[in-house]
Amino acid sequence: TIKVAERIKEIRNQALLGGGQKRIDAQHKKGKLTARERIHLFLDADSFVEYDMFVEHTCTDFGMDKQKFPGDSVITGHGLVNGRPVYVFSQDFTVFGGSLSSIHAKKICKIMDQAILVGAPLVGLNDSGGARIQEGVDSLAGYADIFQRNVLASGVVPQISMIMGPCAGGAVYSPAITDFTFMVEDTSYLFITGPDVVKSVNNEDVTQEELGGAKTHTSISGNAHKSFNNDVDALLQLRDFMGDLDVLALETIIPPETSAAYDMLNVILSVVDERDFFEIMPKYARNIIVGFGRMNGRAVGIVGNQPKVAAGCLDINASVKAARFVRFCDAFNIPIITFVDVPGFLPGIHQEHSGIIRHGAKLLYAFAEATVPKLTGYGGAYDVMSSKHLRGDVNYAWPSAEVAVMGAKGAVSILYRGKSDVTKYVDEYTEKFGNPFSAAQRGFVDDIIEPRTTRWRLCRDLDLLETKKLTNPPRKHGNIPL
Ligand code: COA
Repeated sequence: TIKVAERIKEIRNQALLGGGQKRIDAQHKKGKLTARERIHLFLDADSFVEYDMFVEHTCTDFGMDKQKFPGDSVITGHGLVNGRPVYVFSQDFTVFGGSLSSIHAKKICKIMDQAILVGAPLVGLNDSGGARIQEGVDSLAGYADIFQRNVLASGVVPQISMIMGPCAGGAVYSPAITDFTFMVEDTSYLFITGPDVVKSVNNEDVTQEELGGAKTHTSISGNAHKSFNNDVDALLQLRDFMGDLDVLALETIIPPETSAAYDMLNVILSVVDERDFFEIMPKYARNIIVGFGRMNGRAVGIVGNQPKVAAGCLDINASVKAARFVRFCDAFNIPIITFVDVPGFLPGIHQEHSGIIRHGAKLLYAFAEATVPKLTGYGGAYDVMSSKHLRGDVNYAWPSAEVAVMGAKGAVSILYRGKSDVTKYVDEYTEKFGNPFSAAQRGFVDDIIEPRTTRWRLCRDLDLLETKKLTNPPRKHGNIPL
């Protein structure tokens, strides 16, 4: 038994070293932490419980039987973040470039299955050269096993991918399905095929960074929701973010500051606790703002049109961005507060031909389907978002709100086509609809409130709506326009 004990210790020590000191040094030289360092930074001290340290890959081809590393190329287990349980895997680039062997996939699947059973979030720290080339199709099967679980876990537990190194080919589809994909700047990238393949097939020259770096995915493609300066920044912010998802914890109440200038972000900051707002996709489709905050300690999802960008018009990217966010909140019972100030959908040939009808419908669908408490405030708004008619629970208008079909000028140009002096009709239309009264008279908004009372009212409504019960008709699943 002494021999067994020694052997256990020896294997554990080997596992702790991953691919060995030389490769650890190489990882550090790239400005990256090792898979273990990442886990330790991310989780509360001493809370990590590791699984499968003794697992080894099963490949015997290409001399692989002589190259084994205990635990293989991924570290898996669970731990605590701010005292709350979370399952985590961290791919170890120092072992075969973090590539995905069949056993690597099995380790990930094991914790995914447990996360679903327990109802705890799942966090993946991705840093991998992709499929384990020596294993071929076994490795590909492993990816598919993970995708299947990503889909089954969707809406059951929050899933978060942090891309901290390469992530290419089949590997990208797991992050693509998870709720949030974050990236580390300069050291991570995501693409289906790399620059070499793009060059040989399309004869296009592009760098790794331009093709699939953090900047590209947070500002152009919309595939990633946020990026961070480096590993340390990324993991500490991820801890904060996990705190936002923790619906149960209560924090101190700090009264709001006076209402600020009309940048929607300021409105949001003045309403949430401690001006603390975790924005999702801050650089993509900036005409709409989405993110998490707290109201009297309660986690809320916030959606707001941003009048500062493209007048806050809804276009395809903004619709898709907000729709996915609303569905995340609804799936995890996070109340949604919507600040509406939107002139309408963005007109144009490109938008129409690219399918604004079906993409815009996603946002409508997401709001209509959501059964969580829905609170809505209209600033200078037209009513197309979380309205009363889409089962909004409480809808307020600020005195500045305009709830109308379209802008007065546009309306008049249609109503009085060909008439020479239309100013008087514009004034008439504005008088009728350029205010919150027409909506309030019909009960489409519940009240007209002073902006400074917004936070107070919303907090009180959230308390009241805590016991809200609403379910959609039973069905296999809906068919959101894709
Ligand atoms: N399968 C098996 N081993 C892999 C691997 C893979 N997919 N990707 C990387 N490795 C190994 C390398 O052989 C190397 O092993 P070593 O430490 O024993 O020398 C180690 O991982 C590090 O890779 P290296 O190429 O030195 O690192 P890098 O930072 O220079 O480049 C990549 C990283 C990911 C760009 C590069 O390794 C690569 O192109 N890998 C293959 C990607 C791919 O085509 N995957 C399969 C399709 S999904």
